[in-house]
Amino acid sequence: MQFATIFYALAMFFMCAFAAPLEVRQETVSNVVCTSKTALDFHTSNVALLQICGGIAGTIEKCEGAPTSTVGQSGNVRFTIKPVVAGDVINISKGRWEQGIKAAFVVCGQNIPFTATFTGGAREGNVNVVYEAV
Ligand SMILES: *[C@@H]1O[C@H](CO)[C@@H](O)[C@H](O)[C@H]1NC(C)=O
Repeated sequence: MQFATIFYALAMFFMCAFAAPLEVRQETVSNVVCTSKTALDFHTSNVALLQICGGIAGTIEKCEGAPTSTVGQSGNVRFTIKPVVAGDVINISKGRWEQGIKAAFVVCGQNIPFTATFTGGAREGNVNVVYEAV
């Protein structure tokens, strides 16, 4: 009984200790810079992030229309996406978009404004993302 408990505790410790670095190795985001100490509104941010590319809510699974830049805004919360490669167009999937935002929040804190580069997300390369209050 005692041994099982200690073993379980140790197993959980090692799982947690090694789970976090694995996520970072996916390289979903890079160049993360936290640009404020004040968290933005959770709900407003969730609405804003679905406004990119003219809207990616519901059954829409990716940025449609191949824009050269796009903004997702709700209230005072704004997301801006621009391709890193000049002349490139954005085609980020909703999954990659939400994963990148989550990864940036892991670095900066939940709903803390940031600038970051999301891997992929455009036809040729990566995209630069800004999350800010306006
Ligand atoms: C975006 O474009 C690239 C290159 O054409 C393609 O490999 C990728 O699957 C596209 N992503 C989406 C979500 O359509």
